[in-house]
Amino acid sequence: MSKILITSALPYINGVPHLGHMVGCLLPSDVYARYMRMMGNEVLYICGTDEHGTASEVGALKENMPVEEYCNKYHERHKQTYKDFNLSFDYFGRSSSRQNQELTYHIFEKLDQNGFIEERTMKQIYCVDDQMFLADRYIVGTCPHCGYEKARGDQCENCTKVLEPTDLIDAKSTVSGSSNLEVRETKHLFLNLPKIEEKLVEWLKTKEAFWPDVAYSIAKKWLKEGLQPRCITRDLKWGFPVNKEGYEGKVFYVWFDAPIGYIGITKQWSDEKPEERNWRDWWLDAQDVRYVEFMGKDNVPYHSITFPATLIGTGENWTKVDYLKGFSYLIYEGGKFSKSEHRGVFAEDAVQEFPADYWRYWLMANAPESSDSSFTFESFVSTVNKDLNGVLGNFAQRVMKMTASKIGSHVPPRGDLEPQDREFIATLQEKTNNYLKYLNEMEFRKATAELRAAWVEGNNYISVTEPWMVIKENPQRAETILNICLNVIRIYAALCAPLMPQTSEKILAKFGLGIDSLPLLKNFDVEKELSALPAGHAFEAGEALFERITPEKLAELQQKYGGKNA
Ligand code: MF3
Ligand code: ZN
Repeated sequence: MSKILITSALPYINGVPHLGHMVGCLLPSDVYARYMRMMGNEVLYICGTDEHGTASEVGALKENMPVEEYCNKYHERHKQTYKDFNLSFDYFGRSSSRQNQELTYHIFEKLDQNGFIEERTMKQIYCVDDQMFLADRYIVGTCPHCGYEKARGDQCENCTKVLEPTDLIDAKSTVSGSSNLEVRETKHLFLNLPKIEEKLVEWLKTKEAFWPDVAYSIAKKWLKEGLQPRCITRDLKWGFPVNKEGYEGKVFYVWFDAPIGYIGITKQWSDEKPEERNWRDWWLDAQDVRYVEFMGKDNVPYHSITFPATLIGTGENWTKVDYLKGFSYLIYEGGKFSKSEHRGVFAEDAVQEFPADYWRYWLMANAPESSDSSFTFESFVSTVNKDLNGVLGNFAQRVMKMTASKIGSHVPPRGDLEPQDREFIATLQEKTNNYLKYLNEMEFRKATAELRAAWVEGNNYISVTEPWMVIKENPQRAETILNICLNVIRIYAALCAPLMPQTSEKILAKFGLGIDSLPLLKNFDVEKELSALPAGHAFEAGEALFERITPEKLAELQQKYGGKNA
């Protein structure tokens, strides 16, 4: 048994998660965590809300709430949504927690003591009416190059030219609309990355063989372009106040304390039951911990360069990422998800429409791994109807109904196996091995395809063996076939568990079993598992595992969520 530490990038608290967020790190990390637990490992799976920064201040302002209250509200909303999606975090915490503040201060102090923090004075735009410095993207005005009226202070969206906020004509604050702006001097603290570079590169080299190519090449590209000192403080109110003299009224930059949040949240978890849990066993001088991070592609530089450098700079032995899995983006019906334009499926609405497993399956089958992928309701409905309902659901229902009506609602006895059976068992073992191998490699699309292939084999087996015909002349042979099929249904429940935990429970309940009865997936032996349900074991066919989605419902969904027919 090894210790596996898994983190999913902390979602920004402002805004509610849509399907793109779900598939872009949250859901795959959950599937992986569930898989790793079922492989018999000790898993710690950590996530939480990323709460600091201007975006939260602006969000709170819009809702006319103190920012703390705003964060409390949205933290609960995130938490509930992830619970509804059955994400199995060991702890879902907050980057704004007291524990994270203590750790952020500790790490900053070490960096400062070790000479990796430097002070710089810079010029920045201050809004007199908002009484705050404004980040470049919170300033809009007319682009001096193309005349576009809504150009942002960092870049013009229209002509893509990179801008300085002072280039804009008629610049305004997007916070209040005020144009009462002035350039003021302000001093900030920088993390001197070039000074840490040598140690960072040394560490990175030890990872080259293990990281996926995309992640490693993004890190290498950053290094090649040359590391620059990075500003880690901001002139804002909302954040951890900087614990250094002369920096009163300033806070740490959200990207400084957010990744430290992985550790801070682990401390929240450990503080809940200090006799049983110790965050240090996972993070500081930790033995035998394998640390896997999940994130969107845009987060890779922070996780491969900035955060490891921050930890290395302390001179302490912090756990650093061993494997980093990045995802591309999910496109919604050919466009972008947008809450304000009512386009796209948001996670909290998704689970109102269909059980979480429908979404979990589609999202993993179409995970944006090597490139962006595209959500359409047409594809979603067809996948639910064909794969879930037509292949897995059909097999379970057919076998149970047939056995119940011809023999009775219990597992029939099994006679000697025939070559057909052995062939089926061998193929099923092969698909199972592939599936588990792909999960281990975090190739989620491929894993899902193998799982589906395992279901298809079940359907093929029953089509060739034709127990409904055989029963007329050779009832014992039919009993053997159905015994195998019923046991295979239970095997599917075991295999499904990382991807579709509710379906797994639903299947087991038909056999009067709970999820705890499932075997480990480690060295999963199909032949052995085929004897798990002995002759006489009762079952109840009950209702179908999945519901078919009608064309009318499809049209309704497209209309409601802004599909292409809307
Ligand atoms: N909130 C960021 C995003 O959604 C991710 C933060 S990851 C962390 O893109 F490591 F900083 F927490
Ligand atoms: Zn322009």
